[in-house]
Amino acid sequence: MARIQINGGVALEGDVWISGAKNAVLPILVASLLGDGPSRVSNVPHLQDVTTTMELLGRMGAKLSVGDHMRIEIDPRSLEHFEAPYDLVKTMRASILVLGPLVARYGRAQVSLPGGCAIGSRPVDLHLHGLQALGARVEVRNGNIEARAGRLRGARIIMDTVTVTGTENLLMAATLARGTTIIENAAQEPEVVDLADFLTSMGAQISGAGTNTITIEGVENLRGTDYSVLPDRIETGTYLVAGAMTGGRVRCTRTRPSHLDAVLNKLDETGAEISTGDDWIELDMKGRRPRSVDITTAPFPGFPTDMQAQFTALNSIAEGAGVITETIFENRFMHVQELQRLGADISVKGKTAIVRGVPKLNGAPIMATDLRASASLVLAGLVAEGVTTVDRVYHLDRGYEIMEEKLSALGARIKRIGAAAG
Ligand code: EPZ
Repeated sequence: MARIQINGGVALEGDVWISGAKNAVLPILVASLLGDGPSRVSNVPHLQDVTTTMELLGRMGAKLSVGDHMRIEIDPRSLEHFEAPYDLVKTMRASILVLGPLVARYGRAQVSLPGGCAIGSRPVDLHLHGLQALGARVEVRNGNIEARAGRLRGARIIMDTVTVTGTENLLMAATLARGTTIIENAAQEPEVVDLADFLTSMGAQISGAGTNTITIEGVENLRGTDYSVLPDRIETGTYLVAGAMTGGRVRCTRTRPSHLDAVLNKLDETGAEISTGDDWIELDMKGRRPRSVDITTAPFPGFPTDMQAQFTALNSIAEGAGVITETIFENRFMHVQELQRLGADISVKGKTAIVRGVPKLNGAPIMATDLRASASLVLAGLVAEGVTTVDRVYHLDRGYEIMEEKLSALGARIKRIGAAAG
């Protein structure tokens, strides 16, 4: 099994270019099923979850081709299967995103019920209730979600909880429904806006994306389109935290500063000097040790839960104590026991972790448990004295494109040992 080995202690220095956003490209690739012609998606990151999504669409019968720079063409006209089987869903919960497009465009879908995962039970009840409100008949049988519908009809849907993929599933389904759909308490993440922009370029009529109320006027059909995916704000935040932890200077290029206000505010609180341009963000720590910060995760525009593990790692070596409160998922502190193996002083009580900064961490073998936890362990390895080996890096490969190469270019002493990247 591949592992990553880091010899810590180097202050990172230099530029790192940011890849397309995983959590935008996954719904966008699936949304192409709604079109009556092929779509071409560019700025696609080379990630395991993208490969899984392409396999899922291919198994349904869509024709996929990969052009230069990972530009992907999806032609849904040959679609003949409407299932998302367990062997794929269990490796990528985001497979649930095929539900809305299949029901809206083809009137049927069978999607394996996603189980829980390391960070929580991850229910999909709001996806199903929303589809029923749009007129679909939805049953859960033998571990599968089975949905059937004639033409969906517009409805006013109030989401009990802010859910990103729940909002995305219903947004996609509503584009072809008869009449008007209003989604209240909708997710406002930039990736939801990117999906809405993609659907609009296909001919959908959507207003309010990026606010908590999205209105969709259903249309008869959607056309194929060409689209470039927005940059990954979580990858950006991860490299900025790496710069802050190592006392270095990191400049992220090809990114979108306006999507990271909550994260940049917290990095400013650590004592980092932040400067931004249209498509770049520079963090300069000037060799200083970061100060601890308090974090409470929340739906966008609040502090993103996908940056919580990285800031837990930062607080581990910062000056002072920081309180981390995770409000989105019930079990997103799996990185804590691994950070403790490096010498971190963290105590977890329910949704809160109290992190007392220590002057230094010591390298040791540790194990990744989920995507963002694995990133936080790599960050800790960058500052730990001696060698840190992170096992089960397949978690990392799901969401970070060539992370070792990007960190090596910033001066990190890091390499992959064992099997090659996925
Ligand atoms: C998306 O997951 C992201 N994944 C996650 O990123 C991210 O952490 C999460 O949103 C929160 O921002 C993708 O976009 C592919 P939710 P999602 O539905 O949509 C509850 C990463 O690291 N809920 O917004 O699955 C749920 O239990 C991944 O890139 C229900 O109760 O998350 C949670 O407490 C990890 N019923 C809360 O809502 C439902 O039907 C938010 O979950 C759906 C969700």
